[in-house]
Amino acid sequence: MSNIKHVAVIMDGNGRWAKRRFRPRVWGHVRGSSVVSDIVKAADDVGLKSLTLYAFSTENWSRPAEEVSTLFTILKKFLLKEKAKILANNIKFKVIGQIQNLPQATVSLIRDVEALTENATGLYLTFAFSYGGRAEILSSINHFIEKNPGQQITEKDLSAALYRPESGDVDLLIRTGGEQRISNFLLWQIAYAELYFSPTKWPDFTATEFKKIIDDVSIRERRFGNVCSQVGLEEATRQAASGKTTYLQGNTLNV
Ligand code: IPE
Ligand code: IPE
Ligand code: MG
Repeated sequence: MSNIKHVAVIMDGNGRWAKRRFRPRVWGHVRGSSVVSDIVKAADDVGLKSLTLYAFSTENWSRPAEEVSTLFTILKKFLLKEKAKILANNIKFKVIGQIQNLPQATVSLIRDVEALTENATGLYLTFAFSYGGRAEILSSINHFIEKNPGQQITEKDLSAALYRPESGDVDLLIRTGGEQRISNFLLWQIAYAELYFSPTKWPDFTATEFKKIIDDVSIRERRFGNVCSQVGLEEATRQAASGKTTYLQGNTLNV
């Protein structure tokens, strides 16, 4: 098992994928939705703790009404189709975002699947729907202030007040579709995430590519502002103690 526990994915490129095939954008969304369950399964297979998928942003509300309502329909159909699988695989499902303006039947279905999986102990699967990173931070701060009037908020408090705190910080953020931007996704949680931008449009994305990205990124050294990774530091400390190393670059280790 690698040091990657939480993977977040910006599932982008559906519209361009369809356009290239002279089809309407919504066709790309339909095809893209069928990739989702493969990626959820792959996340489970490789033993991730959390998978967060960006399906619809607060900014996506400005798209044509027909596209927006098709995306709601796709979400509903996905949940109806996948509900049994989610339950069978012990997945703990949650939607983060401001979903109150979605059709009532879709909201009920979401709440139903969330409640049914509340005690699941497997993968934390999160759909970010009508989600915005800035809105999440603001809502978390406001929530904290309401509960703790007059108290200053700390980083720990804010992390604990997020929509789904148990998912933790993001270790790896993947964006498909070739664009290299964050588009208001998990702004607080990605502070130290590894970033991976794949040119593959979402409908063409596969479990194989997903697993390969995780493997490739697992061997990157994550320093978190230190001079070397924690593992490297521990090794250097061990070597220093055994007299093999007398010098470590930087000022973190006193030998
Ligand atoms: C991502 O695909 C899905 C959503 C944002 C809902 P896009 O619809 O953004 O596809 P492109 O980026 O236009 O190709
Ligand atoms: C980000 O993609 C949102 C989702 C994938 C759900 P967009 O296509 O909306 O982002 P921009 O407009 O390229 O930044
Ligand atoms: Mg896009």
